[in-house]
Amino acid sequence: MDKTINQRILLGICGGIAAYKSAELVRLLRKQGCEVKVVMTSSAMQFVSALTFQALSGNPVATLLLNAEEENAMGHINLARWADKIIIAPATANIMAKFSHGLADDLLSTIYLVATCPVYIAPAMNQAMWNKAITQENFQHLKSHGVKFIGPEQGSQACGEIGFGRMAEAKDIFLSLVQSSAEPGLLQNINIIISAGPTREPLDPVRYISNRSSGKMGYALAEAAKNAGANVTLISGPVILPVPENIRCIKVETAEEMHHAVISRADMHDIYIGAAAVADYSPVTVSRSKIKKQHNDSFIKMQKTKDILTDVATLGDRPSFVVGFAAETDDLEHYAIDKLKRKNLDMIAANWVGKEKGGFESDENALQVYWNCGKKTLKMTDKKLLAEQLISLIAEKMDEKNTV
Ligand code: PMT
Repeated sequence: MDKTINQRILLGICGGIAAYKSAELVRLLRKQGCEVKVVMTSSAMQFVSALTFQALSGNPVATLLLNAEEENAMGHINLARWADKIIIAPATANIMAKFSHGLADDLLSTIYLVATCPVYIAPAMNQAMWNKAITQENFQHLKSHGVKFIGPEQGSQACGEIGFGRMAEAKDIFLSLVQSSAEPGLLQNINIIISAGPTREPLDPVRYISNRSSGKMGYALAEAAKNAGANVTLISGPVILPVPENIRCIKVETAEEMHHAVISRADMHDIYIGAAAVADYSPVTVSRSKIKKQHNDSFIKMQKTKDILTDVATLGDRPSFVVGFAAETDDLEHYAIDKLKRKNLDMIAANWVGKEKGGFESDENALQVYWNCGKKTLKMTDKKLLAEQLISLIAEKMDEKNTV
C-alpha cells in the first residue's frame, strides 16, 4: 500500500512473554515497505533476543540510554526525531506508569518524553494488573495526552488466568498502525452510503435463502471512508461484525428492505457503493407456518428482486458517483464491464468468488476495478487495506469527474 511505504516505525519492546509476537509485527511492517527500528528494555532482553530483531528489522537494536558509540551520545533524541510513529508492543504496566508520570530513567521512557510523533501502546499484562485502579488511571491519563491504545484483548493468559490483558495480535496492531495512515481529508464532508453483507429471503418462520457474504468488505469500506473524513451511512444485511464507531448503521434483512433503506436515502449522498450481496430472487410467498416435509420434490416459486444499484444510478437526483461490485466465478472482466455499462455506473470493483483465496468470508480479497476509460488492479491483501485503496481510487476518480 503506497501510503505506508515510507513510514518509519520505532518499535519499543518491554519485558513480557508477548514479546515473541512483536517479531511477526516487524515482519508485517517490513513486508508493507516500512522501515523499522527496535528499542528493547533490559527486561525485554530476558524474554527475546536483540539479535532476532536486528535480523528482522535490518537495523541495530538500541538498548542503552547512554551509548558512547552514538556520534553525539544523543541516541534517544535521534531515534525520537527519526520515527513517524512509535509503537510499544508489548507495553508493561511499568512502562505505562513511567510514561504517565514523565519518568525518564531508560532509553524507551526517554524517547517517549522527546517524541512529537503519534505514540501507540499495545499493553500486555496479567488481568489483575490491568484492572488495578492505578493502571486504569495511567491508561486514562495517557489517552488524555493523545496516546492511542491497541488492545489489550480478553482471553486466557500465560499465567493461567482469564481476562483483559492479552496483547493484541501482531496483525491487528499492524492494521491499526497502517490504517491510521489514511489521508484524513480525502473525503472530507462527503456523504457516502454503502451497502454490505448478505440479504435473507424467508421461506417460512424458520428457513431462508441467503449467501456467503460476511460483510467484511463492506464494513472495511465504511471504516476506510470514515477515516478519510466522510459521513458514512452503512446499510447492512445480517452479519456478526461490530458496527464501527461514528458510522450510522441501518440493519436490514431482505433485498426489499435493503432496497427501501438505500433508495430512500440515496439522494442525500454524494457516493453510493453497493458492496452487499443482494439476492437476485426471493420466494413469491412466505409461509406463515413451518413448511412440512413433502413426499414429492417440492418446487419453490421465486420472483426477481429489484436491482438496488440500477435504481440508485437512474434516480433523478442520484449520488454523483455510483460504484458497483461484481462477484464472478467466470469471465470476470467481461461481466464486470457489462455491469458497468448496463447499470450506468461510474465504477465497478470486480472480484473472483468461489476460489481458494479472496471473495466471500475471507479476510483478504483482490479487486479488478473498471471505470469508463480505465482500469486498475488492486492486489490480494487484507480487506481493510484493500478498502483504503479503493476509497482513494474513488476519491481520485470522483474528483476528475467533477472537474471535467
Ligand atoms: O461480505 P464479504 O464476505 O466480505 O464478501 C465480499 C463480497 C464478495 C460480497 C463483495 O466483495 C462483493 O462482490 N459484493 C457484491 C456481490 C454481488 O452481489 O455481486 P453481483 O455481481 O451479483 O451484483 C452486482 C452488483 O449489483 C453488486 O454491487 C450488488 O450489490 C448489486 N445488486 C445485485 C442484486 C440486486 N438485487 N441489487 C443490487 O444492487
